[in-house]
Amino acid sequence: MLTGMAPTVPEPASERAGARPRIVLDCDPGHDDVIAILVAALHTDLAGITTVAGNAPLDRTTYNACVMRDALALDVPVHSGAARPLTAPPRFAGFVHGESGLDGADLPAPERGADSTDAVAFIVDTCRASEGTWLVPTGPLTNIALALRTAPDLAGRIAGVSLMGGGTFGNRSPMAEFNIWADPEAAAVVFGSGVPLTMAGLDVTHQLVVTLERADEVAALDSPFTTMIAGLFRFFAGNYIARHDAATGAALHDPLAVMALTHPALLDGTDRHVTIETRGEHTTGMTVIDRRDISDREPPNCHVLEHVDDAGAWQVVVDALRWAGERAAAVAAGAGSPPGVQP
Ligand code: BDR
Ligand code: CA
Repeated sequence: MLTGMAPTVPEPASERAGARPRIVLDCDPGHDDVIAILVAALHTDLAGITTVAGNAPLDRTTYNACVMRDALALDVPVHSGAARPLTAPPRFAGFVHGESGLDGADLPAPERGADSTDAVAFIVDTCRASEGTWLVPTGPLTNIALALRTAPDLAGRIAGVSLMGGGTFGNRSPMAEFNIWADPEAAAVVFGSGVPLTMAGLDVTHQLVVTLERADEVAALDSPFTTMIAGLFRFFAGNYIARHDAATGAALHDPLAVMALTHPALLDGTDRHVTIETRGEHTTGMTVIDRRDISDREPPNCHVLEHVDDAGAWQVVVDALRWAGERAAAVAAGAGSPPGVQP
C-alpha cells in the first residue's frame, strides 16, 4: 500500500490494473533487489518486505530495505529474518555489491528500522490472513523454507513462489547461482514443497543488462533519488565489467521475479522438473533442470523462465524509477500525506 503521496505526483496505472498480485517480497538488498522493491511497490499489492542475509549480513540488507521503504514513504512493514542459512556457513557477496550491499551512492538514512525480527511469523500470518498471496524471494531461500516448514498449510494457501535463482549455468560456481548456492538446503525445501514455482534464473536474467549507457539514462531522469540509483548502477555495472571477460554491464536479476507476475507478457518459459543439488562435489547449489523429452521423466514442478523482452523490461524499470524519483522528491519536500492511492 502506498501513502504519503503528494497530489502532484503521478501514479501510473499498472498494465494489469485490477489484477495486482498480492505479494511478500523477501530480499537481500543488493542493487538489483532495490529495483525489485520499486517495481513491486508500483505494480503489486505489496503486503510487506522481509529480509534475509545474502548479498550482505542481515543487519545491512535490512538497513538497505528500510532506506528504500522510507525514501519512498511506502506504507509497508519491513521484517528481518534469517541471519544465516539453514546449515551452510554464512557467505556474502561483497565482491558484487560492496560490503554495504549497496556500494556506489550515499544512501539517505532511514527514519526507522525493521518492524520486527520475525520475518517467518510475518510471512505465515500474512499468507494465512489472505489466501492467494505470492511469495517473491530475491535472495537465499532461508526465510521461505522456514515459513513452509513452520506452517505446512501455507503450501495450500499461497498462489506460489516466484523466485530469482538458479539456471542452467552458475555465477558463484560453474553450475550454481548465488541465491541457491548460499542456502541449498533451503532451496531444496522450497523446490520439494509442491507449491507452484516460477524461476527467474540466470538464463533469463542475463538478458536484462544495466550498461553504463543505461545508468546514464537513469541519471538523465534528474532527481536526487534517480541520481542515487544511477550511482548504484554505475558501481554494479562497473563491477560486472571488471569481473567478466566480455560483460557490457550488470545483469538486473531480481526485478524479473516480480515482473513474472506483473508483466507476464514480457517473459516466456517452459514447465520443467527442477531439483536442487545439495551434495555435489562440484555442483552444490545447482538447479538440476530436467530438459529431457523422455516420457518417464518427473512431472514439472516449476515454470522455468527462459526469455525476456529486454527493451520492454527495461522500460518497466525506467518507468518505475521515474515514478520513484518524483515520489521521493515529494516525500522529501514533505508534500502532503493524503490516503494512499492504488492504480
Ligand atoms: C542474485 O545474487 C545476488 O547477487 C543478486 O541480488 C541476485 O539476487 C544473482 O545471482
Ligand atoms: Ca538478491
